[in-house]
Amino acid sequence: MSNLAIRWPANQAELPKAAFHREDLFQREIERIFLGPEWHPVAHRAELPKPGDFKTFRLGTAPIIAIHGEDGKIRVFFNSCTHRGTQLQTQARGHAKEVECPYHRWLFNTCGDLLAAPGSESFPESFRKQDYNLRELRSSDYYGVIFVTASPAAPALEDYLGELKPLFAKVLGDSRLTLLGYQKVMFSSNWKEYNDNEGYHAPLLHRAFRLLKWQAGKGTQRATEYGHVGLDAELQSVPNSDFLNDPSLVQCRDGTAPKSVIIALFPLATVLKHIDVINIRLVIPHSVDETEVHYAYFAHQDDDSAMLRHRLRQSSNLLGPSGFVSLEDGAVFNRIHQGSMTPGNVRYQKGIGAPIAPPCIVGQNDESANPLRWEYYRKVMEIERERL
Ligand code: FES
Ligand SMILES: [Fe+2]
Repeated sequence: MSNLAIRWPANQAELPKAAFHREDLFQREIERIFLGPEWHPVAHRAELPKPGDFKTFRLGTAPIIAIHGEDGKIRVFFNSCTHRGTQLQTQARGHAKEVECPYHRWLFNTCGDLLAAPGSESFPESFRKQDYNLRELRSSDYYGVIFVTASPAAPALEDYLGELKPLFAKVLGDSRLTLLGYQKVMFSSNWKEYNDNEGYHAPLLHRAFRLLKWQAGKGTQRATEYGHVGLDAELQSVPNSDFLNDPSLVQCRDGTAPKSVIIALFPLATVLKHIDVINIRLVIPHSVDETEVHYAYFAHQDDDSAMLRHRLRQSSNLLGPSGFVSLEDGAVFNRIHQGSMTPGNVRYQKGIGAPIAPPCIVGQNDESANPLRWEYYRKVMEIERERL
């Protein structure tokens, strides 16, 4: 039963603006969503290809670390010493044979086992090293994307991904990947403003979409019962656009028709292919009004040097904090957040008609999948809706 005093309107196409800035909601989101029975992507295997490689990230606000163990297995642990809780690694990525806590020098191997604790001869007799191995999270991977959950109640990962599984094959299935690099940005907005993005705004907010006439409008958005939305759309290719002096930047060179396939996972991650850009976006909700987005870009291991250069140029120029496509999103998220301080409800319109329920397909440029994701959120958060 909810003890949150928030008025959630009876109309499913409406949402209280307060959902974007309430501190009490944020605390409950950390507990029920980020540490609850959802799966969260934290890395692609290509980010830590060799034994000893590690990557740090956050599960909600909790620091975590993925380590490629000497035994070849990638495990994800809470990035916190099992003695007094000190954060172990602070580097974003790196390579190490062991993990040493700086406070009292307890030492762990890459499989998370406690190897040594200085002064342990004066610990209580009941102390046993194996009780102090790093705390491992349940993890599973799909097409090389490593997912974790802090809850034993999460369903099997493939059931959780459901109808969006074929889109993983389209984005990540062609070849083994290699990491190109990252862009990172901090938005002064709530994480839900970030994930409430949809297909309606694309040709309207984004000038590049208009100028490049990318929106063929033949695509679909697929909503699933776990709050995910997958977009699969053809792009019209305009290689001789006079918008750019050098149209090679927007050309598709991998031999297929230019497409935009975007897997927007609940609560916060995106796996996408846009023309030749292969991108995984991971998001950290630092606080109710601070959201950090990491853009990781990938190439195929068998790309030649010209293709690698093309993917690198296209990745950093289209997406990310300064890209033609996502520059405007960052600006508008901040404005939505400011606007959310005014009273009243958000009211979705585009494509809204007779009630629908997931799994279902909606139009490429509709916002009718958004209320379905919010409905999943509301249930996970145990917030009651007002009655008509
Ligand atoms: S807190 Fe890590 S060794 Fe003491
Ligand atoms: Fe956008």
